[in-house]
Amino acid sequence: MDFNDVTRLFKDDLSRIESSIQKNYQSDVPLIPGIGDYLLKNGGKRVRPLILMIGAKLCGREIDERVIRHCCVVEYIHSATLLHDDVVDETTVRRGRQTVNAKWGSDASILVGDFLISRSTLMLATDCDSRIIKAVSESTKLLVEGGVMEYSSARKLSVSEQHCLDVIHRKTASMMSLSCELAALLSEANPEQEKALIDFGTQFGMAFQLMDDAMDYDSEESNLGKPPGNDFQEGHVTLPLLHLYKNADRSLKKEIESFVKNENLTQKDFEYVLERMRETKSVEYTLDLARDYLERAKSSLRTVTFPQPEYCKALDAVADYIYERHVAVRS
Ligand code: FPP
Ligand code: MG
Repeated sequence: MDFNDVTRLFKDDLSRIESSIQKNYQSDVPLIPGIGDYLLKNGGKRVRPLILMIGAKLCGREIDERVIRHCCVVEYIHSATLLHDDVVDETTVRRGRQTVNAKWGSDASILVGDFLISRSTLMLATDCDSRIIKAVSESTKLLVEGGVMEYSSARKLSVSEQHCLDVIHRKTASMMSLSCELAALLSEANPEQEKALIDFGTQFGMAFQLMDDAMDYDSEESNLGKPPGNDFQEGHVTLPLLHLYKNADRSLKKEIESFVKNENLTQKDFEYVLERMRETKSVEYTLDLARDYLERAKSSLRTVTFPQPEYCKALDAVADYIYERHVAVRS
């Protein structure tokens, strides 16, 4: 089973999610559905809703309106994150087109992000399930902490690898883990099954962001949906750059230090760093780490028995997909 088989298997449920996503951002304030349409119509692979749905099926639950609503909640929180993150990072291109902040300005991007968060809260109020509200709030807190930590450590080469992994854990793994936790909570899974699903989501989320960080240095724009080199331009010290720095001689260390301080880097600077990374295999180092996390994610599902274990293969396929889309473009 590969990723296409998974999207085929969940085709009808994915369309129900799309309908829910489009229905719930309606408002009589025209800018909101205007930006909502631009951002959310055919936008993204819906990875978080997908793992939530597969996790629910794994636990023997049917995909009813309640599951769909929670899929919509995780996608809204994720979309709000991107709306805010693109303002913080001053990003102008995402998913192959202009970001909302580039097209409508930062204020609109922040405010529509706020709308999606408040809409999610309202949707959660329908059930008023305190376990779910707590899980969503805890993960959102981690997510924001991750964003603040990344912002605070921008342009700092003194950070450790552990710090980079902690940022990733908070800013990205938190929402993947939440999606899997919601699958377990909505299915009344037992504590062991819940833990296995949370472990899957966490490890998968770590790998997902490490792949994104690796691809930001070594990928085609058509595959990435944005020009590579964004992290380098924005002074984000992600794992490939940190690995290069740690393995550099004194003169290269000085060059990297001055690149990281420079807000007007050129394509030539990026290509120079990329060339050095090929020598130290810094992108491979990041990819290997991502691969380890993916293997750990898949293994965690095998630590317990689930009512419908055949859906483990669907989660494996989603995990493999995030790795293969990079390898495919390099081979
Ligand atoms: C994307 O990482 C950023 C995040 C996953 C989280 C950043 C968090 C915030 C901005 C806080 C927002 C919080 C709420 C509740 C709306 P990236 O910049 O590496 O990914 P990218 O390359 O896709 O931009
Ligand atoms: Mg960003």
